[in-house]
Amino acid sequence: MRRKFWPRSLAARTALALLIGIAVVQTAGLAIHALDRMDVQRAGQAKDLTERVVGVYRTVVLTPVAQRDALLAGFGHGQDLSAEMSRGPPVGDLTEMPAPLQRIYHIHANDVPLGSSHSHWRNLLLYGSPEDHRVLFAFHLPDGHWLHVSALPGPDRSDHGLFFMVTFLAMTTVAGGVSLWTIRRLVAPVRALAAAAEALGRDVNAAPLPEGGPTEVAKAAAAFNQMAARIRRFVADRTELLTAIGHDLRTPITRLKLRAEFMEDDEQRTKMLADLEELETMVSATLAFGRDARSTEPVVQLDLAELLRTVLDEAGDNRPEVADRLGYEGPQHLTLRARALNLKRALTNLVTNAVNYGGSAQIQLHEPAGGMVRIEVTDTGPGIPPGELDRVFEPFHRGDQSRNKETGGVGLGLPIARNILRAHGGDVVLSNQPGGGVKATVTLPI
Ligand SMILES: Nc1ncnc2c1ncn2[C@@H]1O[C@H](COP(=O)(O)OP(=O)(O)O)[C@@H](O)[C@H]1O
Ligand SMILES: [Mg+2]
Repeated sequence: MRRKFWPRSLAARTALALLIGIAVVQTAGLAIHALDRMDVQRAGQAKDLTERVVGVYRTVVLTPVAQRDALLAGFGHGQDLSAEMSRGPPVGDLTEMPAPLQRIYHIHANDVPLGSSHSHWRNLLLYGSPEDHRVLFAFHLPDGHWLHVSALPGPDRSDHGLFFMVTFLAMTTVAGGVSLWTIRRLVAPVRALAAAAEALGRDVNAAPLPEGGPTEVAKAAAAFNQMAARIRRFVADRTELLTAIGHDLRTPITRLKLRAEFMEDDEQRTKMLADLEELETMVSATLAFGRDARSTEPVVQLDLAELLRTVLDEAGDNRPEVADRLGYEGPQHLTLRARALNLKRALTNLVTNAVNYGGSAQIQLHEPAGGMVRIEVTDTGPGIPPGELDRVFEPFHRGDQSRNKETGGVGLGLPIARNILRAHGGDVVLSNQPGGGVKATVTLPI
C-alpha cells in the first residue's frame, strides 16, 4: 500500500515530500491567520455592541422612573437591539452565558466610561441564546428595577473561506511550481551520470561527462571521467602487453624453425616444424586480436538482421557442402548501434563453430525485450561436454575435435567473440540443447 503511493523516481519523491511540507505549513499559517482575524473581528463586534448597550443603560439611568417606559417605547433601535424594563432578572428561554463570554463582555463593558457612581458591573447579568447568538444584558438599576437590553452582535463575515482557499491554492501552486522546476534541474545530473555509466558499459571510449554545474555535480562528473580514463588505460595496458609478448615471440620462433631444418631425424623434424607452425599461428592470432582491440572502430547504426544474413551467406560460401543447412529466422530488419566489423567478427566466430563442430547453423533473432535483443545460434552437432561449457571461452582452449580437424582455429574464436560482445554491453553463453547440439545465446543492448 505504502509502496503504491510512494513514487520511484528521486525527482517525484522529493517533489511529493516538498509539496506535502508546503501544504502543511500553508494550512497552519493560514489557520493561524484566520483565527487571528476572527479574534479581531469578534473584539470589534463586542466593543461596538457594548457601546450601544451601555448607551441605552446610561440614558435609562439618567431618566426619571416615570418616563422610562415612554422613553423605551420611543427607542427606534431596529431589529438588532431592543430594551425593556422588568421587575426581576430574565428567566426562561435564555440561559446564563458561560464564563469566558461573560468575562469578555464584562471586560468590553469596562472599556466604556460610565461615570463614578456606576463604575462597576457587579449588578450586570449576561444571558445568551446559542441559536441566534442573541445576547441579553440584564442591568440591576440603582433604584431596584431591572433593564433588559437584548442585542445581536453583527454577523460574522463569511467570505474568509473562499479568500483563504484561493490564497492557499495560489501560494501552493507557485511554491510547488518553483520546487518542481528546481528539483528537475537538481536531478538532471543524476540522470546524466546514469546515462554516462550506461554508455561506458557499452563503449569504453564513450565521450566524457561535462564537468560543469554545482560543485558536487562537477566533482562527481570529474570522478566519473577519471574512473573512465583509468579503465581505458588499464585495458590499453593489457592489450599492449599482449601484443608486445606476441611480437617478441615471433623472432625466436623463426630462429627455431631455421634450426629445426637442420635436424637429422626426418620424423622428428616434421613434427617439430608442425608444432612451430601451430605456435606461429597462435602468435599471429594473438597479435591480430591485440590489433583489433586497440583499433577504436566507431559505433554506427546498423541492421542486425542484415548482418546475420550476411554472416550466414559467407559461411555458406566458405563451406558449400553445408549451405543448405544454414537458416535465418526473425525480423527482416532490426537496427541497433554497434561497431560493425567487430560485431560481425564475433557473430562469424559463433557461426563458424556451429558449422565446423555441429555441421549446421540456425540463427534465430528475437524481438527486443527489456532493452536487450537476443540472438540464438544453434547447431545439430555432438554438443560440448557440460564441464567444458565455460572452459571453451578460455584463450587457446580447444576440444579434441578441433585439434584433429584442419578447419579448427587456434582456440581464440570464442574468447574473442565474448570480448567483443561484452565491450558492446552484451554477452554470450553456450548451452547444450536437449535434442543435441550447441546453442549460443547472444544478448545485445538495443
Ligand atoms: N558449436 C560447437 N559444438 C561443439 N563444440 C564447440 C562448438 N563451439 C565451440 N566448441 C568447442 O569449443 C572450442 C573453442 O572454440 P573456439 O574458441 O572457437 O576455438 P577454435 O574454434 O579455434 O577451436 C572448440 O575447439 C570446440 O571444441
Ligand atoms: Mg572457432
